[in-house]
Amino acid sequence: MADEPTAAVTAPADTAATAAQAPPAAAELPANEGFEPEIIVFACHYCAYAAADLAGSMRLQYPSNIRMIKLPCTGKLEVIHLLRALEAGADGVYAAGCLEGECHYLKGNLWAKKRVGYVKKLLEEIGVDPGRVEMYNMSSAMGPQFAETARDFTARIRGLGPNPVRPRAGFTAHEVVLKQMGDLAMPDDSASDTPSGS
Ligand code: FES
Repeated sequence: MADEPTAAVTAPADTAATAAQAPPAAAELPANEGFEPEIIVFACHYCAYAAADLAGSMRLQYPSNIRMIKLPCTGKLEVIHLLRALEAGADGVYAAGCLEGECHYLKGNLWAKKRVGYVKKLLEEIGVDPGRVEMYNMSSAMGPQFAETARDFTARIRGLGPNPVRPRAGFTAHEVVLKQMGDLAMPDDSASDTPSGS
């Protein structure tokens, strides 16, 4: 995977994926030159994971900083998983679930939204920017929005700088989290965690 992230496609603004909290525009963020964040994405396989596949099929480019963990539903994501991802050294973490009202398990994405909100509060209390964690919703047809969300969140985390918790020597945060998730994480049966064009 290339070190330099790529960004080539701009999705129409009126079709952007919804976010619990809109990320600041990249242009407003200070530059952290040379910093390439590691970002963990907990993606529902019905929507965000499929949207990533679609983005790949459409040859849309998004940053190679994004590392996916495929879940049967974001409702499987617990507070501890989000915290462990940060503890493992991820610079940013987000959950990407189905559009509200379209979760295949009815309320899984709403539970994920609540858990992300709870982690934001916890981070704020300990002096860590809550913007390092986010919740997004999208459908499987939103390949361009998946790519746009990945670019926007990566720009946000670049602006925030490195996670003060450093990754364990010899392991990426993605490797550590994947191992911790065990059977909760679905097998990665596609190349969707490898961004198109990187
Ligand atoms: Fe996609 Fe629940 S099935 S978030």
